Parts: sequence; C-alpha cells; structure tokens
Amino acid sequence: MMALTGLFLILFLVVHLIGNLQLLAGDGGRRFNEYSHFMSHSLLIQTVSKLNFAFIILHVLYSLWLSRQAHAARPQGYEGKPALQTATWSSRNMGILGTVILLFLIVHLKGFWYELKFGAVPSITYAGAPEPLHNAYQVVRAAYAQAWYAGFYILSMVFLGFHLHHGFQSAFHTLGLSNYRYKPLIRTVGTVFAILVPMLFALIPAVMHLQSLGY
Ligand code: HEM
Repeated sequence: MMALTGLFLILFLVVHLIGNLQLLAGDGGRRFNEYSHFMSHSLLIQTVSKLNFAFIILHVLYSLWLSRQAHAARPQGYEGKPALQTATWSSRNMGILGTVILLFLIVHLKGFWYELKFGAVPSITYAGAPEPLHNAYQVVRAAYAQAWYAGFYILSMVFLGFHLHHGFQSAFHTLGLSNYRYKPLIRTVGTVFAILVPMLFALIPAVMHLQSLGY
C-alpha cells in the first residue's frame, strides 16, 4: 500500500511540476491560467484529483499503522545501533520527513487549492479568448511575493528531496522489482529524481519572489 500510493504520488508530482513550470513562461500567466482552467473543467482530471487525495490520506494512515506495528513488534532498540551502518539517513527519518511534508501540504492546499476553489479569485480576459478566466497566476504571484512564504516552500522542497530519495527506491524494493540487475539503475534514477524534481519545484517560488522584487 505504501509503495503503490507512493508511486502514484510520484507520478502526480511529475505532472504537477510540468503544469506549474508554466508559471515561469514569462507571458503574464496566460498559459498557466489556461492550463488551470482546463484542469478544473476536465471530468477525468477531477476524478484523478479525488483519487490523489484518497492516496495521500491512505499513504499517511498506513505509515502511522506500520510504525505502530513495528514498534509493537520490537519496543526496544537494537544494541550497537546497526541501523546506522546499514540504513541511510533518509530511510531512518521517513516519519519526520513525511510529517514536514504533510505540514507543507496543509499550508499549500489552504493557500492555493482551497483559495482557487472557494476563495474570491480575480478574473482576467485575454484577447481572442471566448470567456474570462480565473487569474490563478495572480493568486500564486501574490503568495510568493511574501518572502516567508517563498522561503517556506524552498525549505520544504529540501525535506521532499530527502523523502523521495528513500521513497523512490524503497517503493520498487517493496514491490519486488529491485533485483541485483536493476538495483543500481533504480538507485541512480531515484537519486536524480529526488534532486531534480524538488529543485525545479523550488525554482518557481524563488524566481517568482525575485520577479516580485523587480528582477
Ligand atoms: C512551487 C511549487 C508548487 C506550486 C506553484 C503549486 C501550485 C498548486 C496549485 C495552483 C494548486 C491548485 C490547483 C487547482 O486546484 O486548480 C495545487 C494543488 C495541489 N498541489 Fe501543488 N504546487 C506546488 C508544489 C507542490 C508539491 C511539492 C506538492 C506535493 C508534495 C503539491 C501537492 C499538491 C496537491 C496534492 C494539490 C491538490 C491537487 C488536486 O486537486 O488533486 N504541490 N498546487
């Protein structure tokens, strides 16, 4: 369950990143607003979105249940701390990393998802467009103009990177897809993914904050 929901969320991250990078298109937000309009009016996307929320909740609940099981199975730690020699820092701290990401998600969903769905979003009319669009770009831009908000996103992406560093290869391992032949490849792809994806996510608040300062 952890591996399957985790892999789905990894896929979601790739799609979400590609969509969000349009914020940096330099066209005053037109492409992002058109993309956002399409996403919120597509039945397929709205169905996948509900699945996405269900998988996030399942991923969190299962992690809590698993750590309770692990603790019940062995309440006292190992002597000589063998985990320090065999396990990476990320793998030993998945709970803390996941908790920070959950906190990030609560702030993120309140600031963007909730705001865009239930808030007073300004509209914008583009030349040649059949109808006015919600100016989602303006909501994101106003959020990242605040230094603390942009900083919080950038810092959270460091935690996401460490979480993905273990989670990516662990998911393949759990599903039995990581044998001696593919393990090095899965580790390399996982490491590149865990660095590249959070870095590109972090680039968005960084660039938009600098833009708000006039750079
Ligand atoms: C710079 C980075 C990011 C930006 C600009 C951004 C932007 C947005 C926006 C505008 C929405 C609302 C979409 C809508 O409902 O119309 C959204 C939704 C969401 N974001 Fe992000 N996001 C970022 C990073 C992340 C990250 C790193 C995660 C996960 C760790 C994430 C998870 C989500 C989720 C779960 C939703 C709800 C999606 C749904 O409706 O199914 N976002 N994001």
